[in-house]
Amino acid sequence: MTDALAEPPQRVRAVVLPDGRRFWLKRVERLSGRLRLQKGDPARAFAAEREGLHILADAGLPVAGVAAEGPDWVLLPDAGPILTEVVADPGRSEAEKLAAFAAAGTALARLHWAGMAHGRPAVRDVCWDGHEARFIDLERFRRATRAGFWQAADVVMFAQTAFTAWPEDARWLEAALGAYALSAPEGAMGSVRRLAWGLAPVGWLAAGLSALRPRSRELRAVGLTLARLRR
Ligand SMILES: Nc1ncnc2c1ncn2[C@@H]1O[C@H](COP(=O)(O)OP(=O)(O)O)[C@@H](O)[C@H]1O
Ligand SMILES: [Mg+2]
Repeated sequence: MTDALAEPPQRVRAVVLPDGRRFWLKRVERLSGRLRLQKGDPARAFAAEREGLHILADAGLPVAGVAAEGPDWVLLPDAGPILTEVVADPGRSEAEKLAAFAAAGTALARLHWAGMAHGRPAVRDVCWDGHEARFIDLERFRRATRAGFWQAADVVMFAQTAFTAWPEDARWLEAALGAYALSAPEGAMGSVRRLAWGLAPVGWLAAGLSALRPRSRELRAVGLTLARLRR
């Protein structure tokens, strides 16, 4: 642990204790001037993330949690592989993959019931330990109105990243959306639908850019996401 802290800063790295327990060490990112302009103040993002980890954990919500912390670092217990790794793992059954995504949908609904928004629940920012789906990467965490804009944006973000990863196959996303719809705050799916319609100009822009950059998976995913969430 002290060895890991002494090494040159890398924002996130795995730390394995001699007894085999695995943790993740996250630190304030050091950015050059230009990146700083693009990504914003890393110290602020770090503070927001740490606060989010504590707030979610205190509320009993499924988050990786904080095992230890210092002024500019936090140590998170390992919450299992991220959803993209779960899908890619040939050793896992399809039933387990669907269960992982359903758990992710339920986790997001619970977070929304608690009056919060994750900010960027990408499929890479949800972990599955075989029992529970937990959130990591809360840099854009915020308090949010139930069924309001930021919560709807969470669902759009999740779907966008799922369609980017698996454009031809929506079954895992469907498992998450189905579970989310069952337990989300009242009106949440309506807000998602309205946001997906409201984002029409983004869809046109993405379609136009997609013609110029046909290999961009992100651009192609925008149309798929909006079409799906308008239903
Ligand atoms: N608590 C955790 N449990 C399991 N994996 C983690 C954990 N924290 C981070 N990771 C791994 O590290 C990667 C990067 O961490 P993340 O918090 O998403 O930061 P960022 O995406 O901003 O670099 C994740 O995609 C995941 O693979
Ligand atoms: Mg991440």
